[in-house]
Amino acid sequence: MSRLLFHITREQVNTRSYRIREELTVSSIEDFIVPWVKEAAPYSDVHISYAWQNPSVARLMSNENFHRPSKSVIKTVKKTLRNGNLYPCAGMPLRQKIAEIEKVKPEQVFIGNGSSEIIDVLSRIFLREKDNAVIPEPTFPMYAVRVQLAGGTVVGVPVGKNLLWDVEKILSSIDSKTRLVFITSPNNPLGSIFPEEDLRKVLDTGVPIMLDEAYVELEDKPRSMSFLLKEYENLIVNHTMSKAWGIAGFRLGYSLSSPVVTDYMFRMRINFSIGTINMEAALAALNDIDYFNRQNEDTKTERNKLFTRLTSIEGLRAFPSEGNFILLDLGPSNVKADEAIEYFMKHDMQIRAMDKPTLGPGFIRYTIGTRKQNVKFIRLLETLTSDRK
Ligand SMILES: Cc1ncc(COP(=O)(O)O)c(C=O)c1O
Repeated sequence: MSRLLFHITREQVNTRSYRIREELTVSSIEDFIVPWVKEAAPYSDVHISYAWQNPSVARLMSNENFHRPSKSVIKTVKKTLRNGNLYPCAGMPLRQKIAEIEKVKPEQVFIGNGSSEIIDVLSRIFLREKDNAVIPEPTFPMYAVRVQLAGGTVVGVPVGKNLLWDVEKILSSIDSKTRLVFITSPNNPLGSIFPEEDLRKVLDTGVPIMLDEAYVELEDKPRSMSFLLKEYENLIVNHTMSKAWGIAGFRLGYSLSSPVVTDYMFRMRINFSIGTINMEAALAALNDIDYFNRQNEDTKTERNKLFTRLTSIEGLRAFPSEGNFILLDLGPSNVKADEAIEYFMKHDMQIRAMDKPTLGPGFIRYTIGTRKQNVKFIRLLETLTSDRK
């Protein structure tokens, strides 16, 4: 039997408090917001807004690529502008190209408006209210936000003192309500790789596992775990073109999974969520492999040089990284993360605090910049830590 649940007249809407057919008393428009949407902590992007408003400040806070897009990407994007009146295609040429590179079938390739869209789509296809998602921490904060917005509950698994994830702790956090597990490798911000044998143990639970390999191309010896797709239907490997590929502003992420999961992901996403510019830019970048290799090697060389240099500075701990960033602990010189952020900001460099929620008070993350920026960073860091000895 269908029943009219409420009926509101214009005058009633205009009064601050009104009654809806006995069943529901509403005092604000917020009462209509779905409870878990209301409660979800928003993803903070103030650092990005600040960077756009202050272009003279070096952007060393979001793991962006300091190399500009290649000439062929820029030329392609310019050409694409003429087709702005047309709806974008569904993306088959790009999916085919990715399938060829990743050695999977096109029906295993999902494309999203950045890998952030993929995180959202997975949260929405797997989670219902009261389900949970297991998230080893620290990690990319977007997972928790999208899980909560999908109605799920976050079960965080904090890293141990050695700053390595403990697979046994992850396994014991998975229960009958777990519908999704997020594993990041290399991890942001820790910089470390989640070992294959640990990943297999997590996959053996049968629960959907999203393996986020946003930084995989930046590994010293890149080794994607996507070959495990042949063995595990519950594996979804997430990649982005925002980091090593250097087109964060054009928004393109892709995932590899079983054709069944991929099909549900396409049903869930908003049609036309990826514009023609995004797809054409991604295709042009993937086709310009010489440029990719050159700039990617350059980033890795800068990272490794910077890391060696950092290990010679007293009063801090630097953690080896397989991404385009390095995690530092300034605890040994009693410098707090907020203090460091402010100090670098005064010198026109925006870096990121990593103290909360799991790491200690002196943890910061530096995104690899140009040679000049990295030299300046070292010089400032030496002054900051030596002043406190
Ligand atoms: C682990 C990880 N995954 C995904 C992303 C987001 O990438 P995208 O720009 O593709 O949404 C980031 C960005 O910092 C990240 O660190």
